[in-house]
Amino acid sequence: MELPPALRDAVDAALEGASTAALAEASAMLSQRYRSELRDGRFHVSEDDAARAYLAARLPATFAAVRAAMDAAESLLPEFRPKTLLDLGAGPGTAMWAARDTWPTIDDTLMIEGSPTMRRWGETLAASAAPFKREWRGVDFAKGKLDVDTHDLVTIAYVLDELEEAGRTALVEAAWRATGALLLIVEPGTPAGWQRILAARAQLIEAGAHVVAPCAHEALCPIVSPDWCHFSRRVARTKIHLRSKGAVVPFEDEKFIYLAASRAPAPRASGRVLSPPRASSGKVSLKLCLASGAAETRLFTKREGDRFKAARRVDWGDAIDV
Ligand SMILES: C[S@@+](CC[C@H](N)C(=O)[O-])C[C@H]1O[C@@H](n2cnc3c(N)ncnc32)[C@H](O)[C@@H]1O
Repeated sequence: MELPPALRDAVDAALEGASTAALAEASAMLSQRYRSELRDGRFHVSEDDAARAYLAARLPATFAAVRAAMDAAESLLPEFRPKTLLDLGAGPGTAMWAARDTWPTIDDTLMIEGSPTMRRWGETLAASAAPFKREWRGVDFAKGKLDVDTHDLVTIAYVLDELEEAGRTALVEAAWRATGALLLIVEPGTPAGWQRILAARAQLIEAGAHVVAPCAHEALCPIVSPDWCHFSRRVARTKIHLRSKGAVVPFEDEKFIYLAASRAPAPRASGRVLSPPRASSGKVSLKLCLASGAAETRLFTKREGDRFKAARRVDWGDAIDV
């Protein structure tokens, strides 16, 4: 998945003249903080080098994940035309760019972000977009109750993993209070990210939310650890990203997990593909999340005609009528 051209150009401009060594060092520090899910009360990104490393190494991947999650929600809610967006833990505005790419009707946005460095970069990047209303507000979720107006779409992307459990519950509660129509939460596609999504899912169902995606039902998740639910998007690495990571492979696979929850009852897929399809001649095997509440592997064969053709077309993460 590629960044929208205006965002790609703005990121390139932000990275112009950045020292590869400084980016590599900041990138290693960030990876270490994210990998260890360090929660020491400090923002991971509080200096310019770390912010630039985030733009080079993480923004393309989190954009791809958030955009894919939005695609899944959009295909189930074709009538949804949000005008307002609230992005919690906005970082450099990744979810705002993804949301406006998915729903061009969004023209009034509020980005809440604790790190002043991230806010500054977010404002810099957003200045390259076509004009729309935007406000960046500095709030630390760990310090006090979040009180914001209702917005059509609310996003929390790659933020819950930076908060303690009580902070996660409070943020999801505040986000749901502010959700006019759709709340989208995205997390890294790790077993721990999946557990955080499961906790948010249970909390939201209890609060009266309707699960739109990725699940095909609102029953308990049937997936049993050490397995976990997640999806993947291939992301091209830029030259500066390759240099700053000392990497040679020109792409990476971003693993992610998400939850889209709506105020109003919404249609759900009757099946969702939970892993890469396995195809051989005349057959395709799909691991599916099903409306019955089960997760099971089904074999589709050529003899099934249109059902087989549909099964051949889908990929990991897609909805399928079963
Ligand atoms: C991994 S970044 C994700 C940024 C963006 N949403 C994205 O998907 O690229 C997490 C963001 O949450 C912000 N954040 C973490 N803890 C926070 C807190 N207690 N209050 C406000 N923002 C916080 C961080 O500063 C950071 O910008």
